[in-house]
This record gives sequence, structure tokens and C-alpha cells, in this order.
Amino acid sequence: MTTDTTGTAARDGESRRSGPADSPFVRACRRESVPHTPVWFMRQAGRSLPEYREIRANVGMLDSCRRPDLVAEITLQPVRRHGVDAAILFSDIVVPVAAAGIDLDIVAGTGPVVAEPVRTAGDVERIHRIDRADVSYVEEAVRLLVAELGDTPLIGFAGAPFTLASYLVEGGPSRTHAKTKAMMYGQPELWHALCARLAEVTLSFLRVQIDAGVSAVQLFDSWAGALSEADYRRFVLPHSTAVLSGLADAGVPRIHFGVGTAELLGAMGEAGADVVGVDWRTPLDVATHRIGPDRAVQGNLDPTVLFAPWPVIEAEVRRIVAQGRDTPGHVFNLGHGVLPETDPEVLTRVVALVHEVSARRAEQG
Ligand code: CP3
Repeated sequence: MTTDTTGTAARDGESRRSGPADSPFVRACRRESVPHTPVWFMRQAGRSLPEYREIRANVGMLDSCRRPDLVAEITLQPVRRHGVDAAILFSDIVVPVAAAGIDLDIVAGTGPVVAEPVRTAGDVERIHRIDRADVSYVEEAVRLLVAELGDTPLIGFAGAPFTLASYLVEGGPSRTHAKTKAMMYGQPELWHALCARLAEVTLSFLRVQIDAGVSAVQLFDSWAGALSEADYRRFVLPHSTAVLSGLADAGVPRIHFGVGTAELLGAMGEAGADVVGVDWRTPLDVATHRIGPDRAVQGNLDPTVLFAPWPVIEAEVRRIVAQGRDTPGHVFNLGHGVLPETDPEVLTRVVALVHEVSARRAEQG
């Protein structure tokens, strides 16, 4: 896969690099030349795959995240099936929060549900700092996977402070984030204390994954699009910056993603990401204009397009690959996660198409 390079950076080094750090995915994140546009899918490890449903049949979601053998198998399933350019660790954004002492569950069809929502300073204190020992199962799963994946990079991830705070304050998923915003506007000190603690937990969780060998990390701020840019900058950006800048010396690309973030793309890039995830509402070239030339972009096929007839999907994939050429670096992905009803064979076809239409021959440079 990496043998057909554009012939510049890879061959100029004194010795040819190989392994996940020289994979098309990591190279695109670093805005280096690539043999083809790399592609992976958010939520690729999950319910669209029958082999996933089978393995999860009698195991709860959080329990499965704590079993390294299951984590490794579920993480590998989409790599084997689709030939994606990266694996993403099977886990969930609330795993480190549970490890930090919050009583919660992940309810099928609903999402994370918190037994006692966080509303006071005492509640914030209940969220303790975490270290390796608290998430040893994640460390073990990453080690197993890195050994198994060879040249295919493994992406680690965590939830960003705002999105985590929303689940903790609301007690579960919310459309309006009303209680979260009430705390933000009404008790800003408490809000900042909560987000600062969540940033510490998130940073520790990502460090464990990086130390165990992941090749990149993605910070999911899925619900940040609920905020105006001014509120994002005041109430959220400092905390996401604490996480991403805390990893500046870690040597792996950092991806920062949210949904409905057209107005926030510039600010999200400023938080310290190397790559900014873009949903389907903003064309990639427009996104790059907002983010600036020193960051790559990731995205942005509307996940519901995968339910359209193939010629529609093909046209959209071609459009996005072409727009990605006008960015400093492009990782193909969906604009949000794979929907459970998606036909996995369509995902496999999309991977092949992205590779085919983006393949660069060596002499093209
Ligand atoms: O991307 C991957 O394949 C890796 C695994 C992954 C999961 N959750 C597994 C999962 C990742 C990266 C996440 C992140 C996550 N979790 C986010 C950020 C990404 C996003 O989609 O915006 C958020 C907001 C959560 C919280 C959460 N957990 C939700 C909203 C849900 C879905 C609820 C439902 O059942 O519809 C979950 C559960 C969850 N996380 C599942 C999976 C595979 C489904 C659990 C099951 O199979 O029963």
C-alpha cells in the first residue's frame, strides 16, 4: 500500500521509513504527500457489522470496553472487512469518566446515562483524576492491537470537556443542552472547575493510549456545535486547548472533531489540532479557508448519503475527494458516525472508490 509513493519525501530520507508512522493516514494528517487519500469511518467498529452484533450479543457495552480481547477483535473487524486506512480503538467517550468514579451506563439505543448528574462543586470533586492503573484494560487492548495491526495505524480517542460535561450535567443525551448551558451561564466558576477536571481526565486517558502505541488521537467534541463562537471561545476553547496542547510533545497527530461546527472551525483549529474534522454542511475547501493552511481536514460524506443509490454515492465521493485536493491534507471520512442501519458492503465499496479515484502515480508528484 505504501510502496507507491509520490517519490519525494519518503525516498529523500536517509533510510526509507515504514510502519504506521509512514502510513497514508498519518502522512495526510501531517500534510505530507500520499499515494492515495486515506479513508476510515467514525463508528466503523459497531452496529453496522453483523460480526459485531454477534460478538456483543451477551456482553454489555461498558463490559466489552473493559475486555482487551473483545476490544481488539471489534477494532479489527472493520479493518479486515473494508480495508480502511486506519483502525479506531473500540471504546466510548464515557469510559474514562466511569474510571474516574462516575456511576454511569451506556444504554442501547439511548447512549450514556449518569446515575447522579453533576450539579454542584461536591459533584465535581467526585470525579477523581485517573492514571494508567485505572484504565489498564485500555493500555492492554492498545498493545494487543498495535502488535496485530502492523503498518495500519490505530487511532485513540477521547471525548472533549464540553461533550463530556453535557452528558454529566444533563444525566444523559440532550437535544438542547439546557441544563449544561444553565450551569455555563449561571455558575461559570463551577462550569470551569468541571471542565478543567474533565480536561485532566481526558489528557491522562489519551496519554495512556499514546504511551501504549496509538498512531494518532481524535478528540470528539460532538455537541460543540450547540454553541455560538463567542460562547465556545469563552467557555470551551481553554479546556479543549489544555487537552490538545498538553499532547503537543507526544509526536502523534491530533484530530479535533465536532458536528454542526461551521462557525467554530477556525476556533477548533486554534485549540491545537493538526487535523480538523468537518461535518457534511461545510465543503472541505470552504472549511480549509476557515481553518487556515497549516492544518489538514477530515471528512465529510453525509452518513445518510450511504442509503442513496450507488450513482449518488459515487458522485458525492468523487466531489469530496476532488475538494480534498484543494486542502493542505485530506483524510476521507463521514461527516459523523456510521448509522447502525448502513449496509456494510456500501462502506467497503466507498473505501475502494476513494482509493481508486485518489490514486496518484509515482511520476505525478
Ligand atoms: O468509532 C468507532 O468505531 C469506535 C467506537 C466508538 C464508540 N463510541 C462505540 C459505541 C466511538 C469513537 C464512540 C464515541 C462516542 N460515544 C461519541 C463521539 C462520537 C459521536 O458519535 O459523536 C459520543 C457522543 C458517544 C456517546 C454514545 N455512546 C452514544 C451517543 C451512543 C449511541 C447510543 C445508541 O445506542 O444509539 C453510545 C453507545 C455506543 N458507543 C455504541 C458503540 C458501538 C453502541 C452500543 C451498542 O452497540 O449497543
